[in-house]
Amino acid sequence: MVKVFVVYDTKYGNTKLVAEKIVEGMREVEGIETAISDVEEVDLEKVADYDAILIGSPNHVGGPVRGIKKFIDKLGKLDLKARWVAVFDTQLGGNQFEKAVKKMEKRINEKIPRLKLIAPGLSIKVGGMSGPIVDGELPKCKEFGKKIADQLKA
Ligand SMILES: Cc1cc2nc3c(=O)[nH]c(=O)nc-3n(C[C@H](O)[C@H](O)[C@H](O)COP(=O)(O)O)c2cc1C
Repeated sequence: MVKVFVVYDTKYGNTKLVAEKIVEGMREVEGIETAISDVEEVDLEKVADYDAILIGSPNHVGGPVRGIKKFIDKLGKLDLKARWVAVFDTQLGGNQFEKAVKKMEKRINEKIPRLKLIAPGLSIKVGGMSGPIVDGELPKCKEFGKKIADQLKA
């Protein structure tokens, strides 16, 4: 079994939905065990025992939210079993595309250099501050999950 932990933050529920769809995609692959948690409720000791960690945040002012930044910093201080990581964000589009994703990847690289990216981050568009997720975006989440699971099994 390859164990994958998905941690997200959300204000309006869109990033949670993205996280759930990613998990749905991963569960299509045999031999993958998944766990999912809001960053505010996450059990760090449990995360430390997983093989891969996925981290998702809404884009707030061109970057991830504070809870996610803190989570990454805390992971950096743990003795992690994980070797693999991937990130995702939700954003309004325009010039914000992938901004939170890129900043999360940079922070992970600085704070937890031994974690390697499984795949480039996924950036999902919402139609307004509180959503909904733009048509055609949700299938990308499931595909992302499946791709990551396949990669981890390879
Ligand atoms: C305080 C705040 C700042 C935001 N700043 C940006 C931004 O700089 N760029 C952007 O594309 N969206 C921005 N948004 C929109 C969020 O990306 C959107 O609310 C989020 O993707 C919805 O996800 P959630 O339902 O998981 O909270 C902002 C939203 C809030 C509440």
